[in-house]
Amino acid sequence: MTVGKNVPHDSASTHVSGESIFIDDRPFLKNEMVCGFLGAPVSHGRLKEIRVEKALNVPGVLGIFTHRDLANNRWGAIVKEQPILVDDIISYEYEPVCVIAAENYKAIEKAKKLIELDIEEIESVLCIQKSIDNKDFLTAEKKIARGDFEKAFESAPHTLEGIFENGGQEHFYLESHACAALPLENNQIEIHSSSQHPSETQHVVAQSLGLSYHQVVCVVKRMGGGFGGKESQAAPFASLVGLCAKKLKRPARMIINKDDDMKVTGKRHPFKNFWKVAFDNEGKILGYKIKLFSNGGAYTDLSESILERAMLHSDGCYYIPNVEILGRVCKTNIHSNTAFRGFGGPQGNATIESVIEEIAHYLKKDSFEIREKNIYQGEDLHTPYGQLVEHNTLPEILEKIKISSDYDKRRKEVVEFNKSSQTHLKGIAVTGTKFGIAFTARFLNQANALVNMHLDGTIQVSTGATEMGQGVNTKIQQIAAGAFGIPVSKVQVMPTSTEKNHNTSPTAASSGSDLNGMATLIACNKIKQRLTSVYNTHLSGGLTPADEIEVDNTQDLSHIVFEDSFVKDTKSGKSISLKELISIAYLNRVSMGDYAFYKTPGLGFDKALGKGQAFNYYTNGMAVSEVLIDKFTGETKVLRTDILMDLGRSINPGIDMGQVSGAFVQGMGWVTAENLVYSDTGVLLSHSPTTYKIPSIQDTPREFNIDLLENNTNDVCVHRSKAVGEPPFLLGNSVWNAIKDAVYSVRPENASKLRLPATCEEIVTLLDE
Ligand code: MTE
Ligand code: MOS
Repeated sequence: MTVGKNVPHDSASTHVSGESIFIDDRPFLKNEMVCGFLGAPVSHGRLKEIRVEKALNVPGVLGIFTHRDLANNRWGAIVKEQPILVDDIISYEYEPVCVIAAENYKAIEKAKKLIELDIEEIESVLCIQKSIDNKDFLTAEKKIARGDFEKAFESAPHTLEGIFENGGQEHFYLESHACAALPLENNQIEIHSSSQHPSETQHVVAQSLGLSYHQVVCVVKRMGGGFGGKESQAAPFASLVGLCAKKLKRPARMIINKDDDMKVTGKRHPFKNFWKVAFDNEGKILGYKIKLFSNGGAYTDLSESILERAMLHSDGCYYIPNVEILGRVCKTNIHSNTAFRGFGGPQGNATIESVIEEIAHYLKKDSFEIREKNIYQGEDLHTPYGQLVEHNTLPEILEKIKISSDYDKRRKEVVEFNKSSQTHLKGIAVTGTKFGIAFTARFLNQANALVNMHLDGTIQVSTGATEMGQGVNTKIQQIAAGAFGIPVSKVQVMPTSTEKNHNTSPTAASSGSDLNGMATLIACNKIKQRLTSVYNTHLSGGLTPADEIEVDNTQDLSHIVFEDSFVKDTKSGKSISLKELISIAYLNRVSMGDYAFYKTPGLGFDKALGKGQAFNYYTNGMAVSEVLIDKFTGETKVLRTDILMDLGRSINPGIDMGQVSGAFVQGMGWVTAENLVYSDTGVLLSHSPTTYKIPSIQDTPREFNIDLLENNTNDVCVHRSKAVGEPPFLLGNSVWNAIKDAVYSVRPENASKLRLPATCEEIVTLLDE
């Protein structure tokens, strides 16, 4: 069986050798142009005129196009309100105003300087608070509630309240947005895009260029990372490159450089959350109210769904009897914020984990104990939105990690250390993730797969899943190889293309393998069923002169199995090589290709009521992190992190461990060093690797232990596996809470002010105050 094995990532060797092809590695086609865009110079204003005459005279410039050249200038993942090119109001600094096609990049840079814009500036809204004051929102208020919070708050022995603020986060994929367009006959166009969502890219390109969907094919071979940043926001770039190609009837490519990419694309949503909590003497939470405000930036993009997921994760891993969760997306004059690993989940989770740290400090108890008290366990396992937490592994994980991380002993050592050290501080904390798996937009929980078996016994699989490094192709390869009992080397997962798979969902919400893996398995089983029938007939000697094999669904053929490249009849002990059987099947005119569709059953979340089955299941995990802080500089080192994840029966433990460690480190970056800095006028100042710090190998935990829990219960997902891509990101919060714990030990009056990210400056300021 290949399923469950550490099969290497299907691009591992070509990534290392440098043979992997990304969009900009493609050889230039004859006549191929390069394209770039001009970004708006102000964060809010009315664009009255664009003059391009001088720029058009630059040698090498082939064309400059504005919104007037587009058949339809509006797009948007949820609300179609976002211009592809500014047509009236500039809503954020660097918003694309026009697109330039040229023979070379130098000509584009020269042209940009010569384009003249008449702009009437308008006052900008740049922070969440100002948007709240102005009542300037992108969405109506959403609500999820249970019980009676007000009553619980009034009658509880203890209450606390506060404000939790988190910053944004740059995706920092190594391959910036990239796309290429090839105009074809009959007004067709082929788009190659670094997109997590080929279907949406196809649709946006078609709409904006005035084409029908069947005239546009979008191909995605791979991305050099996406992390949510290419879920919606790849589409408008593809429209721009498509526009140049269509207008000038030449192939074109547009590769956004790192600085431009950082300035123009949306990031993780900053949040400002107002919370109140009621609890008893033991630290058991009796009531919790949270009002979440996210900074959506200039346009809606995916903000509404991201806010919703933040609300659905505001309970964290904890059962809260009386709860009120409210949320709204603020409109501001910055880039339109978008999906980022966790999709709002980390923000909702970070707030409740921080609140628990405060409860512990208030009661002078260990926060581990408060988490043990409140974790989902016992009789009532319903979330605030009414979903039952089935096969709940949270208490088991918490208990196990307490022992494996040696928590009690190390807690004592931390306390002792802080008493004696003059120069350094330590802190330790456990936090959890209970990540809901499914798109909350129910219609997105569908996938289709095309499986073609060739006469030499090799297979090509095509699905809507896009490979961004997460290993979805490898898992699909394993699923198909496992179904036919052949080595993974006999299965090739093909580039994603809208030509082969239609109406696909983005590869997102961690559900790429769940959905596309299941569709693949169903398609394989359909082919297997026919081959089994052929073999059964062949065994009984009935194939000649029989010309048509009827698939016989009435007979039990479970005794015929596919193993080690053979098809075996376990009853008679006879067997035939798969290759030979394929040949017999072919000569008897039996199809060896199939297509399958899968939709996740049982989902039903009522957005208006805030109730229902929002998720298919939960991926759970916990992390214990210990930090060492330099009191004079605030420099923080993570001394040790222990993670225990419940990934059901992992399809590929090696790839999953990579996802867990990568997601954790990315989460750790969000809560510590990654700090987006804007000027007073809304200009992003930290737009390059020199001013924006992602975690390096030096920042990873000095001791890093990752373990997977054994769990065979997840019968609602392919091969009883669980999704892994985003859930461990939330565990980065353990580092932030360990820092908060450390600050509490010496500056209890300041600890509740700790902001996220807890940068060195932030920590030193709180310690100094
Ligand atoms: N891993 C790598 N290496 N690169 C990525 O861009 N994206 C993450 C996660 N892991 C990402 C990654 C995000 S945001 C999601 S939603 C999932 O992968 C998407 O893939 P999956 O659904 O196949 O897990
Ligand atoms: Mo991931 S944020 O759902 O692309």
